Amino acid sequence: MTLINLDLSKSFSKASGFISPDVYNTYKTETEELNAALHEKTGRGSDFVGWVNLPNEISNNFLNDVETTAKNIREKNIDVYIVIGIGGSYLGAKAVIDALNDNFAHLKGDKPAVLFAGQNISEDYLAELRDLLKNKEWATCVISKSGTTTEPALAFRVLKQDLEEKYGKEEAKSRICAITDESKGALKTLADDEGYKTFVIPDDVGGRYSVLTPVGLIPIAVAGFDIRALVNGAKDMAKATGAKVPFENNIACQYAAARHSLYQEGKKIEILVNYQPKLHYMAEWWKQLYGESEGKDGKGIFPASVDFSSDLHSMGQYIQQGERLMYETVISVKKPNREVIIPEDENNLDKLNYLAGKNVDYVNKMAELGTQIAHVDGDVPNIKIEIEKLDEHNIGQLIYFFEKACGISGYLINVNPFDQPGVEAYKKNMFALLEKPGFETETKMLKGRIWKAQVVEV
Ligand code: PA5
Repeated sequence: MTLINLDLSKSFSKASGFISPDVYNTYKTETEELNAALHEKTGRGSDFVGWVNLPNEISNNFLNDVETTAKNIREKNIDVYIVIGIGGSYLGAKAVIDALNDNFAHLKGDKPAVLFAGQNISEDYLAELRDLLKNKEWATCVISKSGTTTEPALAFRVLKQDLEEKYGKEEAKSRICAITDESKGALKTLADDEGYKTFVIPDDVGGRYSVLTPVGLIPIAVAGFDIRALVNGAKDMAKATGAKVPFENNIACQYAAARHSLYQEGKKIEILVNYQPKLHYMAEWWKQLYGESEGKDGKGIFPASVDFSSDLHSMGQYIQQGERLMYETVISVKKPNREVIIPEDENNLDKLNYLAGKNVDYVNKMAELGTQIAHVDGDVPNIKIEIEKLDEHNIGQLIYFFEKACGISGYLINVNPFDQPGVEAYKKNMFALLEKPGFETETKMLKGRIWKAQVVEV
């Protein structure tokens, strides 16, 4: 079992903005205690730490059920599987499927293509998706822990009607799977009324920590990936970052301590960097995980992300020479899954013959190393997370590693890492503006405010 490797060496320096070993060492005991608090359920938000032991609690029966459901769906010979959900009910599945899939799977005709809906309220997106589905065989799953989120509810209402029109009500039912709370929410009521195959999202696992529940596992299994290897990867990382694993061996504690030390040095932005386009959505998932967990009470590191080397030709300038507010955390993939050797060219007009015979990944790695040196020279501390390759076992490890370090990080800044009260503000205003029944007072107040805001005193 090869575990992912954490390299903090390019974050330590006497220069300001980098980690001072003295400061870092002060967090040794604290991170160990906070890790134990997650396991013992003694920290803030302890009703939502079900994800901590989740990898070890996943039963064989449950995995069989997920696999059988996925097999039944795949046996319908569908072209497209639509996953309806938003936030934590969408990003984990998208991140894992993209990380494991062929970059061009859809265009190569790999079936089923897993597409998403209800992760935005774009009319064009939904209309164009409906166009696509007209001539495709398809099925869907609708995912919402609360069962009341507007975006997925809206998309499901539209797509459910399309599915029923295409296949008839009975067959449509067999093509719908609902993943929601065990007992409450509109989706649960609907699923019970219609008799959909239903999976439960555990009460004590919040959306952004739910990728190893049916929320992530159903779409990942339908996409054709090995959910057992994914869970085993998470299990291995759970063991490696367990409550009794000392700081010296515990990479979740170390990453949390490093992030916190950098934050104390004024590094308010963490940029998650990848050199593999397949990891783009892993960064989107990570941004939700850290942004929603830490960004509250006027505190928290702002999580950003870039795809290198593409973004070295855009954001690279700012990172090298702009305000010194950030540090980088690089996910480095040791071995590519495929091989492309650079050919010799007789005319050598592009002057690339010096690379002939080398792998493309060798050039990528030199770009990575050159960037690390340049950015560290430019006072951007660098954390490196190295994984062997993009496969289920490594991605499972990465997911649990980030979750564990996130819980500890939230506790280090003394926030509840498992709530998201700030998300409600936009919802309240949107409902008021949409004149949703029950929001009459807010509608009146907000409409009054909008008129006033248009009169700008100069
Ligand atoms: O992390 C969270 O809890 C949120 O981002 C939710 O995942 C998101 O709002 C979707 O919620 P629900 O699954 O209840 O529809």
